Amino acid sequence: MRKKIVAGNWKMNKTYEEALTLVSEIDNMVKDEVTGEVTVVIAPPFPYLQSVGKLTQGNDKLHLAAQNVSEHESGAYTGEVSARMLQSIGTEYVIIGHSERRMYHHEDAQTLYQKLKASIAQGLKPIFCCGEPLEERDADRHFDYVGQQLHDSLSYLSNEEFDKVVIAYEPIWAIGTGRTASSQQAQEMHAYIREQLSRLFDAEAAYNTSILYGGSCNPGNAKELFAQPDVDGGLIGGASLKSRDFTDIIKSF
Ligand code: 13P
Repeated sequence: MRKKIVAGNWKMNKTYEEALTLVSEIDNMVKDEVTGEVTVVIAPPFPYLQSVGKLTQGNDKLHLAAQNVSEHESGAYTGEVSARMLQSIGTEYVIIGHSERRMYHHEDAQTLYQKLKASIAQGLKPIFCCGEPLEERDADRHFDYVGQQLHDSLSYLSNEEFDKVVIAYEPIWAIGTGRTASSQQAQEMHAYIREQLSRLFDAEAAYNTSILYGGSCNPGNAKELFAQPDVDGGLIGGASLKSRDFTDIIKSF
């Protein structure tokens, strides 16, 4: 059975105090209001991971994610955080290949593969992001573009390794822009991604993989997006910084 997942990517936002307030509010709202089977993932900035993790420990719907991880195991890599460190403080998921990291930190497909490998080796569940820029969509090359991203970073994983991976489709033109992919655009890309996964891995693994949509997802559009057969949840940016909006998105299933 594929999991329904709503993940909040806080990006580089919130002070420590604000982060604790936000997570306490989410914890309470999820406890009081969310009845369905949905996994809620929260990805705060690195310095808050442990404290946020402690606050969510008593709530089995809430799970902790990091926004990034080093591709290296350990050693002289100043400023980097390893998968083992994340695992040792109770982190369960890790976002890999977000377009902002590909763009601003020049993370290429091979580096992302190494990050996937390092994370899986430590028992972390990667949320692997893919998605095309506007010019690729306008040129009608979006399927090929995303297919290539999947192939270039995932194809070296074994079926067992791939088993832990969650995919997030985030068209770059929809991130932080207020412009969402229509539910039809999301569905056709998610179905295409699942089809590509079934070529790279076994069909059952592809069927069971959760594929999340990200990009200006909000309480107003989540219901229609999540109703699509191949949309298994969302990776939420801006709206995950507001407890009311984030909870309403979770309740859209
Ligand atoms: P927004 O929801 O702010 O568009 O961000 C999406 C995103 O990048 C989540 O990782």
